[in-house]
Amino acid sequence: MNAATTPGRFISLEGGEGAGKSTQVARLAELLAARGIHALVTREPGGTEGAEAIRTLLMQGGVNRWSAHSEALLFAAARADHVEKLIRPAIGAGQWVICDRFIDSSRAYQGVAGGIDDAAVMALHGFGSRGMLPDRTLILEVSIEEGRARAARRDGAAADRFAARGNDFHADVAAAFRRFAAQEPDRCRLVDASASADIVAAAIHAQLADLLP
Ligand SMILES: Nc1ncnc2c1ncn2[C@@H]1O[C@H](COP(=O)(O)OP(=O)(O)OP(=O)(O)O)[C@@H](O)[C@H]1O
Ligand SMILES: [Mg+2]
Repeated sequence: MNAATTPGRFISLEGGEGAGKSTQVARLAELLAARGIHALVTREPGGTEGAEAIRTLLMQGGVNRWSAHSEALLFAAARADHVEKLIRPAIGAGQWVICDRFIDSSRAYQGVAGGIDDAAVMALHGFGSRGMLPDRTLILEVSIEEGRARAARRDGAAADRFAARGNDFHADVAAAFRRFAAQEPDRCRLVDASASADIVAAAIHAQLADLLP
């Protein structure tokens, strides 16, 4: 079976800062390519010209540049553009799409950690993106300390508006992701991301086995 005969699939990778999402997005694209599936790799916030412009607004500036409500609207607007112009057409054409963060990051960061009801975050998603959900969401779990250490090794002292927040905020995000996995076990799978990148890649592969041709 090749890409032309497989149905398009939508996979998102989620998790806290420095968990290894971007690393594993690239690893998953390689794994799929070895099976003849040339996935579209994209990220949030961003992925389209307009959404990348919104990303700059969201990631730069002081921690308090936006309230959780403003952030939720900006993320929803960026996602709406991304879904309409890139993700939905690709899936419709039978392509696999791998997205570095998606709606569950809004639910965890602006929702649970930011104090906005999940129903309100999902209402924005319903309006902006017609509620589009991934076929599978891999939630990478590492301790906050390990995530920070990995990001610091990568970036040095630089931190964006989200990485700059305190441990309580990041603990709320981590708890939110675990709750989503418990609530939606078919879509959301927890992956222990504390091991080497090879072991994490194998765990992700195992969690996608039923979707692979
Ligand atoms: N399993 C791993 N073990 C050790 N280091 C790792 C592992 N996976 C990724 N790294 C390294 O940790 C750093 C953070 O990884 P990566 O950028 O993939 O995380 P991320 O979740 O995308 O981070 P961010 O939330 O900042 O986007 C990188 O330097 C990467 O090479
Ligand atoms: Mg990343």
